[in-house]
Parts: sequence; C-alpha cells; structure tokens
Amino acid sequence: MENKILFEPFTFNNGVKVNSRLTVAPLTLFASNPDGSVSKGEEQFFSTRAEHVGMYIQGATMVSLNGQAFPCQPRAISDSDLDALKQRAQIIKKQGALSIVQIHHGGEFALPEFTGEAPLSSSAHGDVKELTEEQIQRIISDFARATELCIKAGNNGVEIHGANQYLLQQFFSAKVNHRADKWGGSLENRLRFPMAVVDAVCAVREKLNRPDFIIGYRLSPEEPGENGITMSDTVELLNALVKKPIQYLHISQWSFTKNVRRGVGEGSPRLKVIHDTVKGKLPIVGVGSLFTMNDYIEAMKSGYVEFVGCGKSVMINPHLGTNLFEGKADEITLELDPQKEDHYGIPDPLWLMCQKGDDWLPPVKGKEKKSGPFNSITEY
Ligand SMILES: Cc1cc2nc3c(=O)[nH]c(=O)nc-3n(C[C@H](O)[C@H](O)[C@H](O)COP(=O)(O)O)c2cc1C
Repeated sequence: MENKILFEPFTFNNGVKVNSRLTVAPLTLFASNPDGSVSKGEEQFFSTRAEHVGMYIQGATMVSLNGQAFPCQPRAISDSDLDALKQRAQIIKKQGALSIVQIHHGGEFALPEFTGEAPLSSSAHGDVKELTEEQIQRIISDFARATELCIKAGNNGVEIHGANQYLLQQFFSAKVNHRADKWGGSLENRLRFPMAVVDAVCAVREKLNRPDFIIGYRLSPEEPGENGITMSDTVELLNALVKKPIQYLHISQWSFTKNVRRGVGEGSPRLKVIHDTVKGKLPIVGVGSLFTMNDYIEAMKSGYVEFVGCGKSVMINPHLGTNLFEGKADEITLELDPQKEDHYGIPDPLWLMCQKGDDWLPPVKGKEKKSGPFNSITEY
C-alpha cells in the first residue's frame, strides 16, 4: 500500500523513535479558559487528532504575559500552568503521539487589551516599542522557563516558534529589525536573538538531564517586501540551526510546493533548496495545503521532507491519522460541513471564525473563500 511511506519508523538524533511521519501542525484554538486551564473545547479537539501521528505540535503557547497574541491563548509561564500543560500532554500521549508544545512570543503582534501594555519588538514603529536589553534577556529566560514547565508537565518536546512574523522572526528580519546594537544590523547580529533562545532552551534540557526531550524550530523561509527575509538569509539561518543540538526543523508555509521568490535557488521549490542545504543533518517537517491521502504520499515521495504536517485537513477530519493509516482515502473530506458542527469538535470561537470563509481557514461547504486578516498567505 502506498500509504506505508507515511508510517515508516523514524529515529531522531537523540534516540527517540516514532512510527508515523504525520505531524499535526500547531493550531491556535482560541479556546483555553481565561485562567489558562484546559477548556472542554480544547479537550474535545485534542481527543482524537493524535491517532497514528508521530508528533502532535500544540498551538502557540505564550512564554511571557507581554507576548500574548491571541485571546484565550495557552500559557507556559508559571507553576500554575503545570496542570493544564500536563492535561494536554496526557490526552495527546494516550493516543500514541509525541506531545510537543510550540513556545511563542508575539512581539509586535501582542494584543494590548490582554497584555495591558504597548507591543514590544526588535525595533519601534507606530505604537510598538523597542525592547530594552533587560527585556530581551527576560524574554530569553521566559523561553527557558517555559521549556522547564513543559518538561515537568510530561511533554515530549517543545517547538520554538521562529516563524509567521512573531518575535524571533522580528529579530531575524531586516525589514523589521533596525537596531544598531548587537541585536540588529548584520545577519550575524539578527541571528543573535533566535540563537540565544535556542541555546537557553537547550540548556534547560541539559540542566534537567533529559536528552530524550525533543527541541524543534519553526521558521518561515521568505518574506515579501524590500528588506524581507530571502532564501539566502534562510540558508544562513539553517546553517546556524544545524549546528545546535536540536532534533528537527519545521518549515511554515501555506503551500508545500511553493517556489523560492528570490535569493538562493530562485524558482526552485523552497523545500528542495532547504533539503539540499540541510543535507539530512536534521529532519524537516513540510506543511501547506496537503488535503488528500495522495497529497500526503506525494509530499513524502518528493524526498524533501522526513515529516508531513497536517493543519486544516486535521481540523476537517478528526480521525485523519487513522484514515491515512487504514488507507481510507475516500473517508477524508476536503471541507467543513456547517450542518455537522458536533462531528468536528472544533472549539466555538474557532468554529465561528471558520464560518466566515477566510482564506487561511479550512474551506466550508457552500462558502466562497475570501481574504481574511492573513490575506498575505499567498505571499508567505
Ligand atoms: C486555525 C489555525 C491556527 C493556526 N495556529 C498556528 C500556531 O499556533 N502556530 C503556528 O506556527 N502556525 C499556526 N497555524 C499555521 C499552521 O500550522 C499551518 O502552517 C498552516 O495552516 C498551513 O498548513 P495547512 O494547509 O495544512 O493548514 C495555524 C493555522 C490555522 C488554520
């Protein structure tokens, strides 16, 4: 059966083994309780979607109160978050997947109505303030503390959110970062903050003597705009990351097959260029508009990635992993049916957002797609 390629075992460089190449892509559910505890909606969403999955990556989880970028965002900030982190890990692990928490700081996209202060980023613009040296050090230690909490709560790993224009990318991008100190300017300086976060996260694993704990890094390979990240910049980022004692790289894209806009490998598939740069030193997760069984198989067959990510498709198909494992291609559906809300177990706020038909969310039966707040999806 062709679907076998999705279930070949894989052993990470720290000895951890998985039996599935399927990865649930991080999905923000807008559904944690206001006190950070796990809501019924979250519980229901997680309850089946980790079947036959290698890594289940939980959606962006804030490491600092001043980094909150979504309403009802999960947290990994203090001991009071341990119960929620444990509960989510248990639901996921019970289904056989590794539970990975994506650790996140929104930077300039933090929401003042929740944080109570102006958003902070690598550089000031409009209402956004430039981070001071002290604040930078504080956020680096927040990533470390979040990692410690994730370990203590029984998770199998963390994914550092370096993608989708959030804080780490705001330092790496010359479009956003105009600093004149050691945190900005040259490419080496723009790499400093993301690498400091990676080092702090790796140091926690070392301190707690947990070599089996997985550390991944998610990045967006290109940005539009004059000083936006080019594939040449990304090659440098990848070269820096493969030197770190991490376990995987996750390439955030809206389309798996997207070609390089400019820089190294212009016109070739981005994932090919990334694969040729990484040269198997770390496994790569590829994601973006994979919906059918054939899409997943072809993505694996491209040879560019070791893992395939499922985002919208796992929202539409609560048993996607099982459908793929059993080769039931016909049972995989391609759009949400607004009449069958109970079938999906998608938390209410996200379900309501889906009904608007924004283009970054799953297709909805009978609804035209329209540009949503992320109308840049075609550009990323
Ligand atoms: C509802 C929703 C929430 C998302 N939340 C996150 C997130 O928390 N962190 C992240 O890195 N990406 C997030 N993404 C992006 C996905 O992880 C994925 O990269 C994107 O949806 C493309 O994959 P797909 O076509 O399989 O959905 C989100 C996407 C959707 C649709």
